[in-house]
Amino acid sequence: MTHRIAVIPGDGIGGEVVPAAIEVLEALDLGFEFVDGEAGDYVKEERGEALPQETYDLAAEADATLFGAAGETAADVILPLREAVDSFANVRPARAYPGVDAVKPETDLVFVRENTEGVYAGIEDDLTDDVTTLTRLITEDASRRIAEFGFEYAEENGFSDVTVAHKANVMRKTDGRFLDACEAVAAAGDYEYDEALMDALAMHLIMHPEDYGVVICPNLAGDMLSDLAAGLVGGLGLLPSANVGPDNALFEPVHGSAPDIAGEGIANPAAMILSAAMMLEHLGYGDEATRVRDAVTAVLEDGPRTPDLGGDATTADVTEAVLDAL
Ligand code: NAI
Ligand code: MG
Repeated sequence: MTHRIAVIPGDGIGGEVVPAAIEVLEALDLGFEFVDGEAGDYVKEERGEALPQETYDLAAEADATLFGAAGETAADVILPLREAVDSFANVRPARAYPGVDAVKPETDLVFVRENTEGVYAGIEDDLTDDVTTLTRLITEDASRRIAEFGFEYAEENGFSDVTVAHKANVMRKTDGRFLDACEAVAAAGDYEYDEALMDALAMHLIMHPEDYGVVICPNLAGDMLSDLAAGLVGGLGLLPSANVGPDNALFEPVHGSAPDIAGEGIANPAAMILSAAMMLEHLGYGDEATRVRDAVTAVLEDGPRTPDLGGDATTADVTEAVLDAL
């Protein structure tokens, strides 16, 4: 079966790292059909809107989307795109690589973050002139869905430690519900897990990241904790992510459009190529995903490296080395 992949490079280094990832995918010769879509600051300048309807539709109808980065219009582009693929799960691995400076080289974590509700549900209100409220939305369905996804992800990817982050001692009803849903899913699937208060977890993650594998989180906790763990492995140029929906998904590096280095041809393509590896995994090409990850890992260890990792190689040099390692 051939897969239709929407390719949306966006702004700045998006236009440099996305082609690198496509080169790697093409080398695998899986017969993907790549369809280009436009979005970002440059599109807004030309047409008045950062995300044209046709790009939204392209992502919604594709089997998967590869997105680079947008600049100032990032929120106008990425939030609707995540909605286009109906992504309920945000998957963010934070893995340290040999040969790359990391605060904690033993880090190998994956955050599975609920991506639709919690305090990001957008339910805010000005009650009076000087009182503003925010409603934290937690539903049974979304909690169950993210728990099922998280436990299955851990099993499929060989993680023995699963932790559910929460703060049910204070947010008794909302995180109580989240925790209950996780417990029910674990019981039904015979999964083992630990639960952890999210504040204490932040501290333990910094001190002993090796104690953790997959961390299932409500929305805000996942946002904060995954950024925190990103700091442990060092280098924005290395972090991939996935936004997964029921039958569609979008893959993007965590970094932005890097205007300070855009156009110089020195962006690190690793995060984008690793995002493409997550796409391969998602589409059922597990062996190919492993090959790509191993190739990137070998290049990070032996070089060549881009300037963000202390080297002097170009995006093209690194991409070529990854292709050789493949
Ligand atoms: P950024 O991630 O673009 O850059 C931060 C720093 O990391 C810069 O010094 C940059 O050169 C470096 N960097 C990032 N990715 C790199 C890579 N692959 N290789 C080498 N160096 C890399 O974040 P910043 O500077 O906060 O934002 C720049 C623009 O990107 C803004 O307009 C922002 O709105 C947008 N942005 C877009 C995102 C998205 O599309 N998902 C996410 C974050 C920011
Ligand atoms: Mg964030």
